Amino acid sequence: MKIVVVNEFGDPEKLTIQEAADPIPARGEVRVRLTSVGINHADLMARRGEYKLYSGDPPFTPGLEGAGFIEAVGEDVSPSLLGEFVVLDARAPRRTSSVCPVEGTYRTHYVVPAGYALPVPAGVPHIAAGTLWLSHLTAWGCLIWKQHLLPGQVVAIPAASSSVGLAASQVAQRAGAKIIGLTRSEAKAEILRTIPEARFDWIVVTHEPDGRLRPWHREIMRITEGHGVDVFFDPVAGGAYLDSEIRCLRPDGTIWIYGLLEKAGPVDLTPLIRKRAAVRGWVLGNLLEHQELALAAQKEILRLVASGEYCQRIAKVFPLEAIREAHSIMERGEHVGKFVLSPSSE
Ligand SMILES: NC(=O)c1ccc[n+]([C@@H]2O[C@H](COP(=O)([O-])OP(=O)(O)OC[C@H]3O[C@@H](n4cnc5c(N)ncnc54)[C@H](OP(=O)(O)O)[C@@H]3O)[C@@H](O)[C@H]2O)c1
Repeated sequence: MKIVVVNEFGDPEKLTIQEAADPIPARGEVRVRLTSVGINHADLMARRGEYKLYSGDPPFTPGLEGAGFIEAVGEDVSPSLLGEFVVLDARAPRRTSSVCPVEGTYRTHYVVPAGYALPVPAGVPHIAAGTLWLSHLTAWGCLIWKQHLLPGQVVAIPAASSSVGLAASQVAQRAGAKIIGLTRSEAKAEILRTIPEARFDWIVVTHEPDGRLRPWHREIMRITEGHGVDVFFDPVAGGAYLDSEIRCLRPDGTIWIYGLLEKAGPVDLTPLIRKRAAVRGWVLGNLLEHQELALAAQKEILRLVASGEYCQRIAKVFPLEAIREAHSIMERGEHVGKFVLSPSSE
């Protein structure tokens, strides 16, 4: 098999492709030939050495998601599974121990316990199957499981063009919320107004073409007729950006921070007192600790994708050999949706 290995932290050039023997499934395991592997922002951070909880120390293989065909089964696994198209659930990839590097999914073949390979219902596009749970679970876990988003509430979603932002728009629409997408450029706003994966009621552009922050909170106050936003679902969270969020947050509102895309900076928390408002953190790992709930939520995501209610916007598909290019392009942040690695063809 082929496997991507990061031998030292750094730029995309640190992603190397190595040959290894095809793994043999042990008792109760299956070997999946991966055809769809979602590339996530966490993978970029791990490669750069900014996410050691995920990567440990090098060498490690990035990759949290994957889908493909079962092509070998171990003892005590029914041979009738051979050829089945499956998605690896969130319990894969695994760590070999608490101190050893993660065994990620950037590879052609992956061995998991048979119970970790979920059958993919008809109607789920195969190329999207390995990209679904991370974005939609992150959004569902925060907005529905933790926040209990209500019909008619106003939710604002920064990084609207990211895979998590688009998933959040679908989750929020299902909850009956009013949805404002925030994006940095007019060019992306144009795209987000037309694509079916984006379920925003309004799009607000937050930056000038030269990169300066606009006073975008005023636009939010205009849209909400002076009431402000009930819930922010925010991976940006920088100083001035967070300040703007606090300014247009409604009394008793909540800002959920689940990423740190912007540099940290001073923030005026004073309005939170008057507004009785909260800034909270969110990490998907919290939901994954509840294995039965997380598994049920993943199956529900597959069902909703199969029925067409949820969908993934595929920005571009890369072969395994182009992994450096994929990371470089993703780092530019000009895409809308998700990049996919296709380690082997169907
Ligand atoms: N806490 C968790 O459990 C969890 C789980 C999954 C993902 N995440 C986080 O979710 C975020 C999105 O993940 P992804 O894989 O979907 O990422 P992605 O596809 O790489 O999305 C990046 C997008 O973020 C926006 N962005 C980037 N830098 C920015 C900046 N400095 N200021 C404002 N916006 C910026 C841009 O969207 P626009 O051009 O539309 O503004 C960019 O296209 C990441 O921060 C990731 O770490 C967190």
